[in-house]
Amino acid sequence: MREDFLLLNPGPVPVAREVREAMSEPMVSHRSAEFEAVYERAQDHLDYVFEHSTPSGDSTSSGGTSLMLNGTATMGMEAAVANLVGDGGEVVSVVNGKFGRRFARIADRYADTTRVEFDWGEPVDVDAVADAVGPETDVVTMVHNETSTGLLNPVEDVGEVAGDADARYVVDGVTSIGGDELRIDDWGVDVAITDAQKALAAPPGLSAMYVTDDVKPDLDGEAAPFYEDLDWHLRKADSHQTPFTSAVPLFRALAEAAARIREEGMPDRIARHREQSAAFRAGFHEMGLESFPELNETAEYSNTLTAIRLPAGARGDDAAAFMDAVNARGVSISGGQAHLGGDIFRVSNMGQLTSQQVLRGIRTVGEAFREVGVDVDVQAGVAAARDELR
Ligand SMILES: Cc1ncc(COP(=O)(O)O)c(C=O)c1O
Repeated sequence: MREDFLLLNPGPVPVAREVREAMSEPMVSHRSAEFEAVYERAQDHLDYVFEHSTPSGDSTSSGGTSLMLNGTATMGMEAAVANLVGDGGEVVSVVNGKFGRRFARIADRYADTTRVEFDWGEPVDVDAVADAVGPETDVVTMVHNETSTGLLNPVEDVGEVAGDADARYVVDGVTSIGGDELRIDDWGVDVAITDAQKALAAPPGLSAMYVTDDVKPDLDGEAAPFYEDLDWHLRKADSHQTPFTSAVPLFRALAEAAARIREEGMPDRIARHREQSAAFRAGFHEMGLESFPELNETAEYSNTLTAIRLPAGARGDDAAAFMDAVNARGVSISGGQAHLGGDIFRVSNMGQLTSQQVLRGIRTVGEAFREVGVDVDVQAGVAAARDELR
């Protein structure tokens, strides 16, 4: 691995040295006081992230519990749905990308699921969601930041729809939480889920979720998979433990990563993510490239990852040569997922990137385009991005 390797995939993201070092401490039992201290530290800092992710840093929750599960966010998404719907339950899933679709597929296993579907990259029509949600709806699932398309979805508006119908609202904040705004009470969120390896900038393997006090009485742990019984997880969390063996090194890493977020403070962190994603967009637009997602009055560009249409000469069968040219420069970016393969590329600014790393990402992508014969003005792109950075 090159010294200067730069990971710009939308997770896992680069992990700070202190976070990596936390994993190499001597092993302890997950039932020891040492581990309980790690859990408590992680939980305390995660409470801060879930509750204070606003530009002002004000709290947006009247109460809830942060939990960590041994398993990535897909497990957290499943746990949330499975604990909230019993036999004959009804779920409405908003789908405008791969992760909205994943939520619907999970819900299919536990409930009658209605999909409110849009083309990937198209904004959500909130009226269409309102038409699908009714008094019979138990749960509405929603992805905040659709990683497959770079679109920031209207969590607040859909939350209002769910609230009007007295449905529970489960939000996948996997690529927003820790990097962008989240308002638990204002947006009517009952359960919010994220992954360690995204904007929390920890290694992959754990998910974190916030369960509001208000939704707790509706959880039915016995209806869920044994490993995902949230009543049990909540009981054990009171004593800073997990029901089963905790992935001790990963908990240590997450505690350290979350402590670093608190040190930066969510207001500064949100501002930095917004600035860096604006820089990526400005740089690529200046090179004549186009953003992939479509916007409307409620949908915005993601503040944590940028999805750009591949231009002629680097699209379809030509995409592999472009990606190889990026890789050869020691930078890793992502292509499109599923049917978007060969159509778009995606770069992340989640976690702890510096301005220099953002500029290097733009320069590298520009140079890779030139290498495969796409005529872009690399210097102009870098200059436009620099103007967006403090
Ligand atoms: C928005 C979103 N939701 C859910 C997931 C699922 O995460 P995992 O594969 O880590 O379980 C991802 C992963 O990229 C994601 O971006």
